[in-house]
Amino acid sequence: MEEKTLVVANWKANKTTEEAIDWLRRLKQRLRSWPGLERVKIVLCPSFIALSPLKKVIGEWRLEICLGAQDISPFPAGSYTGEITGEMLAGLVDYVLVGHSERRKYFGEGEEMVKEKIRRAKEVGIVPIACITASSQLPEKGCLLVYEPTRAISQEGVYRPADPKKVSQVLSSWRKKLDQPTLRFLYGGSVNPENIASFLALEEVCGVVVGHASLDPETFFSLLENAV
Ligand code: PGA
Repeated sequence: MEEKTLVVANWKANKTTEEAIDWLRRLKQRLRSWPGLERVKIVLCPSFIALSPLKKVIGEWRLEICLGAQDISPFPAGSYTGEITGEMLAGLVDYVLVGHSERRKYFGEGEEMVKEKIRRAKEVGIVPIACITASSQLPEKGCLLVYEPTRAISQEGVYRPADPKKVSQVLSSWRKKLDQPTLRFLYGGSVNPENIASFLALEEVCGVVVGHASLDPETFFSLLENAV
């Protein structure tokens, strides 16, 4: 289990590589001499093609930022046109998002495929961050779990977060179901600088996944400030 609060920025299908590097340049100014990094771990999930250039820049600028992929192939290396395998991602990222509701909705991913992706990630030493909306989707151990109610995900920049009290109820019932009373989850869905503290205050929550509010470096930094 992570000790620092995890803040995962899920950029989805946004930002060219140039824009991604510019975002990092602007965040770097803010992070310089920010003591909060002792308590927060940033995981940046850009597009696949921005991963390598961002890794290089993060190294050069000595930034304390981890990288995550937004997806991973359920297949090994081979004849799977267009796929990005675990082996390709190993060494490039520490984390990978799996089972995001947008992948389930737009790309028809089902439980079996999500399980296979989790297996592939673990095989190559990448930590899966499994997004779930219902207890029937709770995967086996060895993943970070994100509770992301589909209707709480922002739409075209409009936030519609879940009620933290309801999130707490759901997550405590899942802990009981799994018989893991100390298990902690990430929450995702319309997290922004104004509401992040209300989710992190929950005993069941150890971090957040942030989509829209991570796209602007100033907004993202305000969110980090409110996470500590
Ligand atoms: P949102 O997206 O923060 O824009 O609601 C979160 C997510 O879908 O991971």
